[in-house]
Amino acid sequence: MTGGPRICDYGDSTYREDFWEGQGRDYEDVVERQVLAQLLPARGQRLLEVGAGFGRITQEYSMYDQVVLLDYSFEQLLYARQRMGDDRFTYVAADAYSMPFCPGAFDCATMIRVIHHFEDVSAVLAQVSACLCDGGKFILEYANKRHLKSMLRYLFGRNIWNPYSLEPIEFLELNFNFHPDYMQAKVTQLGFDIRRVVPASWLRLGLLKKTLPVSVLSGIDSVLQRTGWRLSPSIFLSLQLGDASYDNTAAESRSPLDILRCPRSATALRRDGDVLVSANGIRWGVVDGVYDFRHPLA
Ligand SMILES: C[S@@+](CC[C@H](N)C(=O)[O-])C[C@H]1O[C@@H](n2cnc3c(N)ncnc32)[C@H](O)[C@@H]1O
Repeated sequence: MTGGPRICDYGDSTYREDFWEGQGRDYEDVVERQVLAQLLPARGQRLLEVGAGFGRITQEYSMYDQVVLLDYSFEQLLYARQRMGDDRFTYVAADAYSMPFCPGAFDCATMIRVIHHFEDVSAVLAQVSACLCDGGKFILEYANKRHLKSMLRYLFGRNIWNPYSLEPIEFLELNFNFHPDYMQAKVTQLGFDIRRVVPASWLRLGLLKKTLPVSVLSGIDSVLQRTGWRLSPSIFLSLQLGDASYDNTAAESRSPLDILRCPRSATALRRDGDVLVSANGIRWGVVDGVYDFRHPLA
């Protein structure tokens, strides 16, 4: 135990099979890709996907020359690597509260279906901010506690928690829903400028999903997304850090060592076989093509 914030460890969970594959969530999956397509730029150099999991949506980042998948679950990353290979992708097993990257290494970061596992929102947002360059973009999706269904439930006495109060609600251990004003205050405090707010997944209701085809549901959703009303269960924020246009020499490099650094000592790393060694001798493993920064080697 480090005494830091708790981590929601997916380990070798069956998240892919139990939550996505054949589980009736095609509508949510399509809508999330639809929103990303609207918010991502036409071209980019290096993108960090925080909490990439098994790489469900990583293929949406095809406009980026390099994509770094970061997740605490080594097994999810291994699955992603087996599916997508190493060509444009780098796999990093690490705690997002303690990221192993050089300052300003990325011109974009995304965090989709991830921040609901973080009890210290400011701490993880500060990590994202530190590894983005000036002018960097950040697409953040979060679970909204003040959505239409929770408001109705509250009205009829069916919610034990108040959807209008600002504090996050931990409805299951390490699963939080956030009030839109709370999340917007947090990102603003960290220096992010809110460029767009896209409310999504409006029609997440069993009966609708059973009766209407995904194309109809996602079509209606895209109309509702344009309202900007923060009353849907999922909200995307398109954020920007500063105004500079992207100009980072490290971005030219394809070598992971140019963007990785020791998360404990913040020093540069050199590779020695399957081990990365920091300037002060801390050693990290490279296992099956995944850079493993969860625990240093003995
Ligand atoms: C619900 S999954 C979402 C995966 C992917 N973004 C998607 O939408 O399919 C949440 C992911 O966040 C990762 N995660 C949770 N806490 C983390 C932490 N402290 N550091 C890094 N990853 C974390 C989990 O391992 C898991 O893969």
